[in-house]
Amino acid sequence: MNRRRIAVLISGRGSNMVSLIEAAQKTEFPGEIALVLSNRPDAGGLERAKASGIEALAIDHKAYSTRESFEQAIDEALRSRDIDFVCLAGFMRVLTSWFVERWEGRMINIHPSLLPLFRGTHTHKRALEEGVLVHGCTVHFVVPELDAGPIVAQAVVPVIPGDTEDSLAKRVLAQEHLLYPQALRMICDGRASLDRGRVLFTKGWNAEGALRSPS
Ligand code: GRF
Repeated sequence: MNRRRIAVLISGRGSNMVSLIEAAQKTEFPGEIALVLSNRPDAGGLERAKASGIEALAIDHKAYSTRESFEQAIDEALRSRDIDFVCLAGFMRVLTSWFVERWEGRMINIHPSLLPLFRGTHTHKRALEEGVLVHGCTVHFVVPELDAGPIVAQAVVPVIPGDTEDSLAKRVLAQEHLLYPQALRMICDGRASLDRGRVLFTKGWNAEGALRSPS
């Protein structure tokens, strides 16, 4: 199978981006990170990508008068580099339906909660406020509605008495770094795909490792 050309879109430190880069550096990984793109020129992740020898591009949303023209510039950058697949990793701009539909079935995101709980921001704070006993993270296909796309993989993180937003965020992030490469691998080698609005697993989600949970 040809290695898929993947772009990672970031806005900040890029720790998930690093986990994807490191996974894709293994020769048997069915995809290569061909581009890292940030809407913020000062995103720390850009330097980290360059240090790994990956093209790091900033397309500053502030330089565009409309969301559409900004997204057109991103779309052009992706197409001109023959990108097959997009991973959002802490990309903090809401994407329009135009862009999302152009990349339908070819764009995933990682979100720091067990969706459909806690869509949007401040997920750890809200989980603590609600008193849930399990929290976690989700990789999902991107659809126009925010954080609402078909679920590819989830990792469960227990909430421990005395947890703070920071301590919980730290444990969830550690799982994100394991889950995202695993989910991307499942998609790139065809074990998970988008099929009529659901994720189809060739051997069933459990066999594919779509769930990470404490033993
Ligand atoms: C992660 O928590 C991710 O789930 C969310 O944004 C954060 C990005 O962190 N979408 P990083 O830039 O990957 O370190």
